[in-house]
Amino acid sequence: MDYLACLIVVLQLYETMGEGRFVDATVKLTNNMNLECIYPKTAGITQMSWVKSIATGKETIAVSHPLYGVHIEDKYKDRVRFINASSRDRSLNFIKTTEADVGLYLCSITFSDGVWEKVVQVIQSDSFEVPVLPTNHTITESGGNVTLRCPYSVGSSVQQVMWERIKADRMDTIGLCNLSEGKTYGSDYQERAMIDCATQERDILVIQNVTASDSGIYRCRYGGNKTHVMSLTVTSETLDHHWHILLIAGGAAASLLLLVTILIISIALVYRKKKKRRRIMKALSKALYSTQTRPSNSYGRSNFHGTPDSRRGVESVSGQMDEIYINYRDYSRKPKTRA
Ligand SMILES: *[C@@H]1O[C@H](CO)[C@@H](O)[C@H](O)[C@H]1NC(C)=O
Ligand SMILES: *[C@@H]1O[C@H](CO)[C@@H](O)[C@H](O)[C@H]1NC(C)=O
Ligand SMILES: *[C@@H]1O[C@H](CO)[C@@H](O)[C@H](O)[C@H]1NC(C)=O
Ligand SMILES: *[C@@H]1O[C@H](CO)[C@@H](O)[C@H](O)[C@H]1NC(C)=O
Ligand SMILES: *[C@@H]1O[C@H](CO)[C@@H](O)[C@H](O)[C@H]1NC(C)=O
Ligand SMILES: *[C@@H]1O[C@H](CO)[C@@H](O)[C@H](O)[C@H]1NC(C)=O
Repeated sequence: MDYLACLIVVLQLYETMGEGRFVDATVKLTNNMNLECIYPKTAGITQMSWVKSIATGKETIAVSHPLYGVHIEDKYKDRVRFINASSRDRSLNFIKTTEADVGLYLCSITFSDGVWEKVVQVIQSDSFEVPVLPTNHTITESGGNVTLRCPYSVGSSVQQVMWERIKADRMDTIGLCNLSEGKTYGSDYQERAMIDCATQERDILVIQNVTASDSGIYRCRYGGNKTHVMSLTVTSETLDHHWHILLIAGGAAASLLLLVTILIISIALVYRKKKKRRRIMKALSKALYSTQTRPSNSYGRSNFHGTPDSRRGVESVSGQMDEIYINYRDYSRKPKTRA
């Protein structure tokens, strides 16, 4: 705790938050409010802090250190907490907010090679404008790069273009192209947004490596108060997905093939059995006929060899002759159900 107290003093001495600072996100003041701060890289974080800009300078809200733990200033203790225990997500949750919570906040993460910062502005809920419905829709597959175009003519007197992502209760700054100042990216988009401010292509924004979470409403602001609102839908139809479908389809086809094969074999077997049975019956009826017409009381095995027609059937069952002969009556009584 001593370490964190010292850290707060140091922060209050050195943190500066100049006026007119680039704002990375604008959040609507709500009773239960989240200020998002997710470190985009994987390098180890040494420490982090949340600071608020106030009239007399700045005040520390919370500091966190991997070894020394979390410290939240007394003034905020009862209504502020870190949402996530994970080290990369240092978002703050505020409850029971008041108008006094309106203002500029700085999330500052110190890692091995430097400092990553995000400026969050909290504004009155009635100042948070609800954008008009999107006029252009873009659909793309996840994993690719998406290009959004702002419909101003590059040759016109437009000096600045600002790109934003709009959500229900906050607006994230993606990037800004000011002809005299160059480009600036929002903290959350530094890694994957691209604006080419120096060329004729400065009306386009490219977001690399989009995922389903990038689906939403985007806006460009240009020429003072002109805006263009567009929607982006990122489908999760990646190669993996196609591959899965292919596997499932392949599996289904294989199962169907197997089923059909089994069916064909069964039918063939049944058919063959039936054919055999018919032959046996034919032979038997002939044999029976011959034994009945003859005065002999023997079954007259030799009689089965009488005609070439009956021979084949008899040969295969010659060993079971007696049984078959006994069962013969059943066959003749209800031959249809047997088939
Ligand atoms: C905390 O972060 C992890 C990883 O980013 C995420 O899966 C989880 O849902 C988060 N929890 C909360 C409460 O936001
Ligand atoms: C996206 O853009 C980057 C940078 O221009 C490029 O390296 C990458 O290959 C692109 N990815 C796809 C899927 O086009
Ligand atoms: C918006 O969509 C219309 C029709 O799909 C197209 O003609 C126009 O160029 C698009 N505008 C932008 C800025 O992409
Ligand atoms: C671009 O940057 C310059 C220098 O900071 C600033 O004076 C100007 O107002 C900016 N342009 C727009 C359109 O805001
Ligand atoms: C794209 O994102 C995936 C996961 O989100 C990551 O593994 C991959 O390295 C990224 N590719 C690029 C070019 O940034
Ligand atoms: C946009 O700005 C122009 C001039 O700056 C002004 O005349 C117009 O009323 C503004 N439009 C809106 C919707 O604010």
